[in-house]
Amino acid sequence: MDKKQIIAATERFVREQMQADATGHDWLHVERVRRMALRLAAHEGADPFVVGLAALLHDLDDYKITGDLSGELPRAARWLARAGVDEPTARRVLDIIARLSFKGAGVATPMADVEGCVVQDADRLDAIGAIGIARAFAYGGARGRALYDPQAAPVRHASEQEYKRNSSSTVNHFYEKLLLLKDRMNTPTARAIAQQRHRYMEEFLVQLYEETGLDPALTD
Ligand code: ADP
Ligand code: NI
Repeated sequence: MDKKQIIAATERFVREQMQADATGHDWLHVERVRRMALRLAAHEGADPFVVGLAALLHDLDDYKITGDLSGELPRAARWLARAGVDEPTARRVLDIIARLSFKGAGVATPMADVEGCVVQDADRLDAIGAIGIARAFAYGGARGRALYDPQAAPVRHASEQEYKRNSSSTVNHFYEKLLLLKDRMNTPTARAIAQQRHRYMEEFLVQLYEETGLDPALTD
């Protein structure tokens, strides 16, 4: 298969795998991340083949969906071999996916190359703004989390294990991850988009406090 055919086959495969998800990690999330990643890639001069593959495959082995905390990527790796992607490219794609995820407020997640930078930015942009708010509450609902909890302050997770074990309310998740993302963008284009989406989330929270009587001091 040539590159175009590999991308098309990967798209069909991922679409089929992620169709039924109700945690905010559905096919449309993958499609938005790919579109944004390719847009950023054009600005940054990143390789669109590596970016496209990494974006398409980035959530297939996510612990939030599979429940597997080992950090291994069996489904993505198997697919890349099956699609006939050459070894060095497959290794780059898998390395990007392994580094991508947010791992707690106190944990750095550096990317090794420009391709990784744009895929990480695209995934993080999809976690903020209006779509980010929608996905956070969808995820919280799918996991049985509280919308908000007047008794619990947010936590600054110092390790990946601590972050992955958390069962915070969705409003606390804004303070534990979503509001931190605008300062963690890798590229200038993503940073500009993030600023606007960040303001929108802040406005949402102000309105939420007004309607619910939740004390914003709890979340400071
Ligand atoms: P990442 O790999 O950085 O976690 P994903 O593409 O997997 O990014 O998206 C994670 C999604 O799950 C986000 O939309 C985020 O809001 C949601 N999420 C994760 N943890 C929680 C939580 N504790 N409460 C609510 N939403 C959460
Ligand atoms: Ni994602």
